[in-house]
Amino acid sequence: MVQTKRWSITETNYQQAIDEAAALLKSGSAVAFPTETVYGLGADATSEEAVAKIFQAKGRPADNPLIAHVATKEQLAKLVTNIPPFVDKLIDAFSPGPLTYVLPTNDLCATNVTAGLSTIGVRMPVHPVAQSLLKQCDIPIAAPSANTSGKPSPTTADHVWQDLHGKIAGLLDGGPTGVGVESTVIDCTGEIPIVLRPGGVSREQLEEVIGEVMVDPALVGAEGRPKAPGMKYKHYAPEVPLWLVEGSAEKLKEVLAKERDNYHRIGVMASNETAAHVEADQVISLGSKQSEIAAHLYDALRTFKEGDIDLILCEVFPETGIGEAIMNRLRKAASEYVAE
Ligand code: TXA
Ligand code: MG
Repeated sequence: MVQTKRWSITETNYQQAIDEAAALLKSGSAVAFPTETVYGLGADATSEEAVAKIFQAKGRPADNPLIAHVATKEQLAKLVTNIPPFVDKLIDAFSPGPLTYVLPTNDLCATNVTAGLSTIGVRMPVHPVAQSLLKQCDIPIAAPSANTSGKPSPTTADHVWQDLHGKIAGLLDGGPTGVGVESTVIDCTGEIPIVLRPGGVSREQLEEVIGEVMVDPALVGAEGRPKAPGMKYKHYAPEVPLWLVEGSAEKLKEVLAKERDNYHRIGVMASNETAAHVEADQVISLGSKQSEIAAHLYDALRTFKEGDIDLILCEVFPETGIGEAIMNRLRKAASEYVAE
């Protein structure tokens, strides 16, 4: 057990909280901080020993590489051997922001950051607290999502606290994160960039800036080893089984009625419009717009508790824009897909 220091950031203590958190990171401790996507659990990316604390606190498999976080393009350039012209364009359009570039590593970061790969994922978060912290540290910070491995990613400081207090040195509480799903991970080592994980920047947005992008075959269900190693583990799992239900509110009602005999208490998560038409033991309205649904998704998955609810039904959302990331996460979290 370690004592976890929690700073609730206000205007008056802002600089002091950043200074203290940065000092802990520089001394080799693990500290959680908000980004615009989800909370990250940070440690000095150049120190094997510091990075090991992340894996230990999260219970994360060692062969799943971490993203190095930096404040500026200059700092990104220090971690990779080459920045191709299309990456320059992407950086101008989307960084700082929810996009992670996989590029050839120059091995400045510790080998447990890259899991021994010849590439490294680098991201510049835009959240003001993350920016201030990274500038104050002036070292690359390795940071996976700050949850226990396998659970939904944390979008509030309370989620981080539930999973990791007593296991990490500090937690900067900057309120709810905003985007709600993680960054888009894009492999930039080949001629045509490949989306390894859909996220905060949509495929449509990427294509507007650089033209054609490919999507990892592992994402579209083809056989073979997943290229983003994070994709092969159980992820985002709620405490109780989650079923995805395709079709309208009518179809949700039908499944609800049918499963009443098999499951004592049934929960539903859906858009406001669909939620208004269903009655269940617990109903969570995620919002109307896709951006609202993304922002509330992980909190909803964490809200349904074993003992209160025996089965969660969630509607299937359109896969345009950030909807691609929403459905990617829901498929990983779900145990059944009920087709229309
Ligand atoms: O939004 C985000 O990206 C958040 C915040 C904290 O920045 N971080 C995050 O980290 O989601 P994590 O560790 O939960 O997910 C990182 C993903 C994993 O799927 C991992 O396999 C992939 O990025 N990844 C990291 N480095 C890679 C590399 N060199 N090659 C391929 N995939 C890589
Ligand atoms: Mg994660």
